[in-house]
Amino acid sequence: MRIYIIGKNGQLGFDLDRVLSKRFKVDGGGRETFDVRRVDEFLSFVKGKYDLLINCSAYLDVVKSEKYIKDSFLMNAILPSVISKFCYDNRIKFFHFSTDYVFDGRKKTPYVEVDRCDPLNNYGLSKYVGERMILENNPDAKILRVSGLYGKRESKSKGYNFVSFILKKAEKREKVQIVNDQFLTPTYTLNIAKQVEKLIDFDISGIIHSTDEGETSWYDFALEIKRVLKLDLKIEKRDSQDLFPKRPKYSVLENAVLKKNCINIMRNWKESLEYFLKVDLLK
Ligand SMILES: NC(=O)c1ccc[n+]([C@@H]2O[C@H](COP(=O)([O-])OP(=O)(O)OC[C@H]3O[C@@H](n4cnc5c(N)ncnc54)[C@H](OP(=O)(O)O)[C@@H]3O)[C@@H](O)[C@H]2O)c1
Repeated sequence: MRIYIIGKNGQLGFDLDRVLSKRFKVDGGGRETFDVRRVDEFLSFVKGKYDLLINCSAYLDVVKSEKYIKDSFLMNAILPSVISKFCYDNRIKFFHFSTDYVFDGRKKTPYVEVDRCDPLNNYGLSKYVGERMILENNPDAKILRVSGLYGKRESKSKGYNFVSFILKKAEKREKVQIVNDQFLTPTYTLNIAKQVEKLIDFDISGIIHSTDEGETSWYDFALEIKRVLKLDLKIEKRDSQDLFPKRPKYSVLENAVLKKNCINIMRNWKESLEYFLKVDLLK
């Protein structure tokens, strides 16, 4: 199987490459390799060369998405839907990633795939519209909703991930203020990459929640990083009330589709974090 990963050098793309290149021929890259905004040229380039396209590219900045609405809809909805149609027409498998921010966070128990979406900000809305447009054009597409990503590579768009942010603050001996009223499941990108590998051979499509298991607040996530590495860091609680734009207070996802199909290999978030900090990060 020949695979092209759009955004191969990003946070998630890096681990997808690490896992999938052990079994398959993997190509890909970011804007320097091929900017997908030149979509016609991009599709001519991939035509006939690949059996699977994985789209990790996105407009990820939640704050800037409020201002640059056209850009976020282009990257998160329009281009993915065009690429997904091309894949459907050319019998190429297509994977895409969405977010827990499609939900409004009013639920008190983990969201399942069929729960109603009602995004609170433009990033979440553009990703949600992307989900609908992709599946309209390509019912075979696999859209994995993920959340709170961290891994060996920092997010290319943000320049950091939550773990690297905490580690940098500890290094500089600066105190941090972290929101303690937003709950999620931090998710290790290596686990998602292994789950994608498992899904490649599996005949399920549509929305698939793929986050690590368990839940926590951002504040307790920070405390856990501090505990595992015995960091000398002052962590203060912060209220999310003054954050703009709004984010869901509770966006824990249940991997219901994976579990129903007996293929959920996502791991507990604390165990994954410990493995990442004590093993993978040191490699
Ligand atoms: N990070 C999170 O916590 C999080 C949470 C929920 C969902 N997600 C979703 O997970 C997916 C992956 O996120 P990530 O954290 O891995 O993002 P990332 O590190 O920012 O990676 C995105 C990649 O896309 C590439 N890219 C951007 N625009 C492009 C374009 N026009 N043409 C070609 N490549 C382009 C970037 O490469 P260049 O900069 O080199 O162009 C980068 O490698 C996204 O769909 C995101 O919405 C992420």
